[in-house]
Parts: sequence; C-alpha cells; structure tokens
Amino acid sequence: MIISPSLLSCDFANIQRDVEMLNNSSADWLHIDVMDGVFVPNISFGLPVIEAMNRHAKKPLDVHLMIVNPDQYVADFKKVGADYLTVHYEACTHLHRTIQLIHQHEMKAGVALNPHTPVEVLSEIICDLDLVLIMSVNPGFGGQKFIPQAVEKVRKLKKMIQESGSSALIEIDGGVNLETGKLLADAGADALVAGSFVFNSVDPSKTIADLKGLN
Ligand code: DX5
Ligand code: ZN
Repeated sequence: MIISPSLLSCDFANIQRDVEMLNNSSADWLHIDVMDGVFVPNISFGLPVIEAMNRHAKKPLDVHLMIVNPDQYVADFKKVGADYLTVHYEACTHLHRTIQLIHQHEMKAGVALNPHTPVEVLSEIICDLDLVLIMSVNPGFGGQKFIPQAVEKVRKLKKMIQESGSSALIEIDGGVNLETGKLLADAGADALVAGSFVFNSVDPSKTIADLKGLN
C-alpha cells in the first residue's frame, strides 16, 4: 500500500519539522492539498509554500488541486516540484487537454472524483491516466467523516482499470484510518491519503507504518 500523508493537517508553523518526520517515516509520497476558495469553500496554501516544502522533502510530491482552471498553473506546479498532479473531473471542461498538458510537463497525471461523481465518467480516458483519486469526503477540509460509498467505487474502478488494461493507480482521500483503510485495501486501493489520522495521532510515524501494513 502506498501511503501519502496529507500536509493539510501538519503544523504550518513547523512545516520543515513535519516534512522531515515524513522523510524519516515509511510514507511513500507527500500529499499536498491546494484549495482556491472557489472550487471548494476553503483556501489552503499555494506555490511558494509548496516550493518551501519541496526544499526539505525527499519523497515524491502528490499534489491534489482543488482549483478551477488548473491548466493555467500546470507549468508552475512543475517548477515547484510536483511529481503527481491531480485535477478534479468537476473542474475541467476539457479534461483530455488538461491531462495532455500535465504529461507534456513530465508529471504523472491524476483525476479526482467528488463523492457524487460516478467512476464511469472516466471510461474514455482511463488509459491516459496515471492515477485516479476517489474522494471519500467532500473536498475542502480535513477531519471529516468517511463516506462509505467510496468502497464500492473503488471496486468498480478496479474492474474498469483491469478490463481496459490501464495502469492507473487508485488513491483514496478523506476520512482514512485503519478501519476504513482496511475496507479500501480489500476493495483494491493502491494508495491511501491520511491527514488528521496521522497528524493528530500520538506517534505519526507509527501511524504511517500501521497504515502501510494494510494489504
Ligand atoms: C480534503 C483533502 C484531504 C484531507 C484529508 O479536501 O483533499 O487530502 O487532507 O484529511 P483527512 O485524512 O483528515 O480526512
Ligand atoms: Zn487531498
């Protein structure tokens, strides 16, 4: 299982310390949530903060854009160190063009689906994707309750990926803990994002190792 702790729940007054904790943990990627106050009702942080995180990070940056018009910033996210760049299906009118643009900038391309969006909308583009991010909460905030329908979406998506021959990874974001993580692992998830469960725990590094042990 790939584990991608979300820095949305880190201590913003101690970003370097928290990134170094992740460097020394069994985390695989660093999940970075960008919110614009338009696509979602919250604002998180932007390019200069990601550039600062990347100065300390020794692991791939898994950047989740919750913004409208992501095409406009693809080159900028490459510059600040994004390895995976994930855009929302609901924010992209010309999704195929956006995915091509991300690939032209030599990043892995992901598409995120809100809880109400069926996985079937990706059937014509699944072979072009490196990652699908299933939202198991409504995007915008950490610490929300897991929406259980996400588990069935993972199963359906797994089937679509296998039948199409796509090599896309399935990542889940929102309300992930050891209990929901187990359900998701059984359904076929490849990667789990966890924010509050990791950073609010007594020993974040151990929590990451526990999540990593889910199979
Ligand atoms: C929510 C973000 C998540 C968030 C998850 O919009 O996309 O990545 O950090 O937080 P938890 O794990 O606390 O639900
Ligand atoms: Zn996220």
